[in-house]
Amino acid sequence: MPKKRKNMEKLQVLDKTFAISIPEAEIQKQVSRVAAEITRDLAGKSPLFLPVLNGSFIFAADLLRQIPIPCEVSFIKLASYQGTQSTGHIHEVIGLNADITGRHIVIVEDIIDSGMTMAHMIETLQAQNPASIKVCSLLVKPEALKVRIPIDYCAMEIPNDFIVGYGLDYNGFGRNTKNIYTLIKD
Ligand code: IMP
Ligand code: MG
Repeated sequence: MPKKRKNMEKLQVLDKTFAISIPEAEIQKQVSRVAAEITRDLAGKSPLFLPVLNGSFIFAADLLRQIPIPCEVSFIKLASYQGTQSTGHIHEVIGLNADITGRHIVIVEDIIDSGMTMAHMIETLQAQNPASIKVCSLLVKPEALKVRIPIDYCAMEIPNDFIVGYGLDYNGFGRNTKNIYTLIKD
């Protein structure tokens, strides 16, 4: 039978089943829109893009190829480890080799859920006195936001569901797809 009902396309990742929720064409359309906004806003500012690993690697690759202005790119990662204090987890930004003082920064994230990760990232980078910090996220779950953070560029808003694909993972798997898939409730 021909695959007519493309929206029903399923994806199995480990023990979970996902269904396609954002097809490749829609993702690419919204990535292009955001790229145009950034190109317009940051022309002449020689921005430094900081994509956050691992989740944003595909988004960053697609986005940056559509931003024709002079810029630099440096991937960063938020390392989480158990602190020796009773405060629990400590987060540290690693991989940031560039001096960001006086630079126009664009943080490139895969998804903003509670916003805690991004809030911490902004606070850490702000301490190094950049000229400006803009936040660009592929996805935002508005219903899940717990802290107020400036989201300057958002490709797509989604419901408070768990998704995989296009860089995003479930227990490390499912990143290598062109579409985005939503967990089917079980
Ligand atoms: P936040 O600190 O709650 O905003 O969480 C952000 C991080 O949680 C993202 O960078 C992702 O790594 C992860 N995350 C949140 N929601 C999802 C999802 O639906 N699928 C996969 N990863 C997610
Ligand atoms: Mg992430």
